[in-house]
Amino acid sequence: QHDKLALPVGTTLDRFIMRKQEDFPYATGELSQLLRDIALAAKIVNREINRSGLIDIAGAYGNRNVQGEDQQKLDVIANIRFIRALRNGGEVCTIISEEDEEVIQTGNVQGKYIVAIDPLDGSSNIDVNVSIGTIFSIYRRVSPTGNEGTMADCLQAGTHQVAAGYVIYGSSTMLVYTTGNGVNGFTYEPSLGEFFLSHPNIQSPKTGTVYSVNEGSSASFSPGVADYVAHCKEQGYSARYIGSLVADFHRNLLKGGIYIYPSTQKSPKGKLRLMYECNPLAFIVEQAGGKSSNGRMRTMEIEPQDMHDRCPLFIGSTELVNKAEEFLAKEF
Ligand code: AHG
Ligand code: MN
Ligand code: MN
Ligand code: MN
Repeated sequence: QHDKLALPVGTTLDRFIMRKQEDFPYATGELSQLLRDIALAAKIVNREINRSGLIDIAGAYGNRNVQGEDQQKLDVIANIRFIRALRNGGEVCTIISEEDEEVIQTGNVQGKYIVAIDPLDGSSNIDVNVSIGTIFSIYRRVSPTGNEGTMADCLQAGTHQVAAGYVIYGSSTMLVYTTGNGVNGFTYEPSLGEFFLSHPNIQSPKTGTVYSVNEGSSASFSPGVADYVAHCKEQGYSARYIGSLVADFHRNLLKGGIYIYPSTQKSPKGKLRLMYECNPLAFIVEQAGGKSSNGRMRTMEIEPQDMHDRCPLFIGSTELVNKAEEFLAKEF
């Protein structure tokens, strides 16, 4: 999986993408261009976020999305920016977004790719200056080009992803992504408008001492989940729960840990969405040596029924996810 010529820290994202493309002799550059389009949108959204307190784009937008959530203005702005960048880039025919009930047809009927996106993850943290993110997943269309993307193009299992990544707008802004050959992290330098390779070939620790779960829902945890959380406490693990999946995931990816969003009374199928939260992070974590399941089966093998399907998420260090699954298996 290692690069023949590992690129040095400090390589720009553009140069890295070009170098990686050379590894794929048949690559025609569309996926490379698509990744650049996403990076451009990330730069634009980063700027909007950094000044959201100054111009009146923080706070609620006054609409509810298909999830039944009050859309934040930045949810809507990020959605518009990513959709526009993907439409203008020309490589994407159809988009699934958390913020749109129906698929978005870009008009690029020759586009070979489908993107599923959570334009802004951690919306409850937007106007309190806590890290938030964008999560994206890329599929190759299965229908012939020349027409709009179909539902069959959109509802592919996570194992069919050709790329996945996230942006974390935190103390620094980073883009972390995989195209199936390892995971690489790039840190944004706003004064230059460039992403630079800062975390080459990320390998996630096999175990950890951090667990992330909203214990406010403890009353409705299943016995196996309750027993696993009790086990974490007996082990003396640290509880870290930011309320932004991307931020909890990123910390656990680098330092080791497990993030759990189980079935709860409020969200019987879990809260997180399969297509644009669970699958992309599952692809990344597996490429970094970690694990992701719904408690019983591999996240990426779940067959989507609807674009906005939710599923329980147990994701992070392999040994911790295995242990959680052991507790869940005892439930029967
Ligand atoms: P989003 O803001 O895209 O709707 O996602 C929010 C998710 C995830 O980021 C976070 O970990 C989780 O919701 C928090 O949910 P609870 O407040 O129910 O814990
Ligand atoms: Mn939301
Ligand atoms: Mn989200
Ligand atoms: Mn979101």
